[in-house]
Parts: sequence; structure tokens; C-alpha cells
Amino acid sequence: IAEIKGGQEEGLERVGEQITIRGWTRTCRLQKSFCFLEVNDGSCLSNLQCIVGSDTEGFGLIEAGSVSTGASVAVEGQLVESQGSKQKVELKASKLHLIGGTDALTYPVQKKRLSREYLRSIAHLRPRTNTFGAVSRVRNALAYATHKFFQERGFIWVASPIITASDCEGAGEQFCVTTLVPNSPKDSSTPIQSIPSTKDGLLDWSKDFFGKPAFLTVSGQLNAEIYATALSDVYTFGPTFRAENSNTTRHLAEFWMIEPELAFADLKDDMACAASYLQYVVRYILDECKEDMQFFDSWIEKGILARLNDVAMKDFRHVTYTDAVNILLKAETKFEFPVKWGCDLQSEHERYLTEKVFNGTPLIVTDYPKDIKAFYMRQNDDGKTVAAMDVLVPRVGELIGGSQREERLDVLERRIEELGLEKDSYWWYLDLRRYGTVPHAGFGLGFERLVQFSTGIDNIRDAIPFPRVPGSAEF
Ligand code: 4AD
Ligand code: MG
Repeated sequence: IAEIKGGQEEGLERVGEQITIRGWTRTCRLQKSFCFLEVNDGSCLSNLQCIVGSDTEGFGLIEAGSVSTGASVAVEGQLVESQGSKQKVELKASKLHLIGGTDALTYPVQKKRLSREYLRSIAHLRPRTNTFGAVSRVRNALAYATHKFFQERGFIWVASPIITASDCEGAGEQFCVTTLVPNSPKDSSTPIQSIPSTKDGLLDWSKDFFGKPAFLTVSGQLNAEIYATALSDVYTFGPTFRAENSNTTRHLAEFWMIEPELAFADLKDDMACAASYLQYVVRYILDECKEDMQFFDSWIEKGILARLNDVAMKDFRHVTYTDAVNILLKAETKFEFPVKWGCDLQSEHERYLTEKVFNGTPLIVTDYPKDIKAFYMRQNDDGKTVAAMDVLVPRVGELIGGSQREERLDVLERRIEELGLEKDSYWWYLDLRRYGTVPHAGFGLGFERLVQFSTGIDNIRDAIPFPRVPGSAEF
């Protein structure tokens, strides 16, 4: 359907062609002697309206009431100019095949407004709605634009591992990998993948990753640094995991992260890369996903097109952490968490800065206190702050977190000791400083937060096909 309707003249150029479409019935409106059958195949938001008349083979199915919302069909016919004003073309059906019927009484995705909370409970059917179809296509376009942006600039994509022994952020928010030991050790044919409950086997905590502790990665950054100090600019794009038990609209236990790492680069280069990346992908969806973006503007967040257009056009604003704290201290708003120099910015502070102070433009906050940031960030000369940067955007808050990395061996060793980290386990990371070290910098962007920001969807659970949050891992 996208192929037909996406043309210059919305399909008019293809009038006269004989085609077959396959998809799912959205509505079937029976008139006196014919019926309007709206079919959607997920390729775009629009349905293709099919005119099924008494001369159409299979019209009996309609008369018998067998083609209801949700039924899968194949319709053959000729593309004609539409008499109606809602679309340029429609399909004059010569043959209708019913591929899979539905029970109209029990089908959960009827054509009416369904709450997004309810739709989360039917994650297997929600992609059939307009909203989730549009979010899925825009998410796909953002992923494509991400690779396109980095590939056009010579970055090399690196696969970072999912299972690892290191805790990049040092925040201890890791899921542990363990082994299921079947109940009957003699019967080695017991399929471990059956059901990992205590009925089938024991979760043996002493027997983790073949005898060594291992976790699900919280970030691919340290691995990206290894490749950046050999191949120059690289990026990762893959799933990452955080065992934070938070029930918020911006946290997932499993989320995708894009992590570029730039060699021979400092914080300025890093910020410039983050801004041009964000502007590039936003411009891409505005140009390439017009119909879906218009849908978000009408139904999800009024004004999102203008907001994103501004993001793509205007320079990002910059402020140091210290100046941001001073602005917040003078604010008239009463915050739930009081601000003082040295505390981490909470989402209420981030939103106040971007929405109230900086008028909706993305804001880059730099030079955070070293004590609230990870061990690998490059120390500034003041001895108190690090060359860190977070990109904050309205509604979502922190979209990107990044920094220049500490490339000086002695400074890094001292910091690892200061923080009481186990130096031996960083031997390979220190080697990168020992052998041919270079200034380098990078950032991590939470892909689902980007989807939230780009679609106006307010809950991050609706920005990923299968959200992993406390209490939900069914599908
Ligand atoms: O700020 P974070 O923790 O930074 C890092 O992991 C660095 N190693 C990145 C780097 O420099 N290569 O996470 C980066 C981003 C955040 O800004 C946020 O967008 C997203 O990842 N993020 C989450 N998204 C969804 N759910 C969560 N629980 C998230 N935690 C972080
Ligand atoms: Mg962060």
C-alpha cells in the first residue's frame, strides 16, 4: 500500500494497473449492493479502500458476515480513481479471498479508541493499531537514519557483547547471568529451555557464567573504546540492561543504546557530533515519515512537527552544570528534590531547564562534579569537575549522556584507586592508555527515549515493541 500511495500523485499515476493486496481488514461497511472494505498491510498508516460488489468473486463472504475487523484477506482488482474525497485511488475488486477470519465478538482490537495501558496487556496485537503501526515505522526509520548518519561519516559499527564481567557505569545496576541446573542430573536430555522455574531446575547462583561471575551489559562503551583506539571513529547500537527497579515513564530494564566513540577528539567534538546526529535523524523522519509524523501531530502531541522542525534548525544551547545549578537555585518553582551543587539533576530539574528556561531547545549541560559521574570521565583542571555532557530535551529530560574519556594513565589509575575499584580487573582498559593512548570522547543515546521524543508518546513502554519493566517479560 505504501508503494502505491507513496507516489508523487498518491497513486493516481498507477490507475489502470491490475494488482493484489494482502493485509488485515480495518472495517467492512456494507452498502446496498456493494461494500467498502478498508485493508491495511502495515506498510503505511493509510488503508487501501477496496470496492467489493456483487460482481466480485467472493462477495458471498461479505454477505455472510465472514469478513470482520482483523480478518486477513487478499484482494485482487484494478486500481481506479476514487469517487470519494478521502483518497485519490481505490481498488475495484474482482476477487476477494478470506485468508484468516476472526471472531468479531472476541477480537480485542476493535475500531474504537483503546487506552495505551490496555494495549500494553495485548502486546501481541497492539501493532495492528494506527498508533503502534506508526511508532514501529518511525522507530525503524530512526534506526536506519542512525546507521546512515554514522556510515556516511566513516564510523565503523562494532558489536559490543551482551554478557560481560565489567560494570561500565559502576552503579551496580546489573542483572546477573546464571545457569539453570536441571532437577534430574542423570537425564541430560532435559531441555533446559523448557520452563526456568524451580519445578524444572535450580537456579544455581554459585554456577554463574561457567564458574565466573558475569552480567548483562549496562553499556557497550568500554568495548567501543577498545575499537576506537584502533579503528578511529566507531559506534555500537544494541541492547543494554539496567536492573533499576524504577516504575517511571522513562526507564526500561532492557533498552537499546547508540554509542559512538570518537578518536582524537575532545568534549567539543563530542557535543558537535551529538547535535548533528540528533538534527540529522529528526530531519530524516520529518522528510521520510510525513504521514506518520502528521498522525502524531494530530493525535498524540499537538505541535510536534513545529517542535521537531526547530530542533533540526536551531543551534543547541549550552550551560555548565554550575550555571545550571545557580539557575535552579533562583527558580521560583518549588522542587520535590532541593538542588545544591554536587547533587545529580533530577528529571524535574532537567525539565524545568529545557521547558521553562531554555524554551524548548535541546540543552547541553557540561562539566558535572566528578563525584556523581563514572570513573572513566576526563578530569578538568579545577580538580572538582569532569569533561561530561548530557543532552536534555523537553518532555523526556536526559536523552544523551557522554564525556571525554580520561586518556592519561596516571590520572586514571589514581581515580580507580580513589573510588576503591578493583584495579586488576581494568588491566585491559589501562592497556589502552599504556600503549598509544589518544584523547577520545563519546556518548550514549537511549534509543527508546529518542523514539519518545520523536513521536510524542509519553510512556517509554510504548516506544519499544516488548517493554521489559518490573513484572513484565511475558512475550
Ligand atoms: O547516561 P548513561 O548511563 O551513560 C552511559 O551508559 C555511557 N556509558 C554512555 C557513553 O558515554 N557511551 O546512559 C546513556 C543514555 C541516557 O542518556 C538515557 O538516554 C539512556 O541511555 N538510558 C536509559 N533509557 C531507558 N531506560 C533506562 N533505564 C536508561 N538508562 C539510561
Ligand atoms: Mg546519564
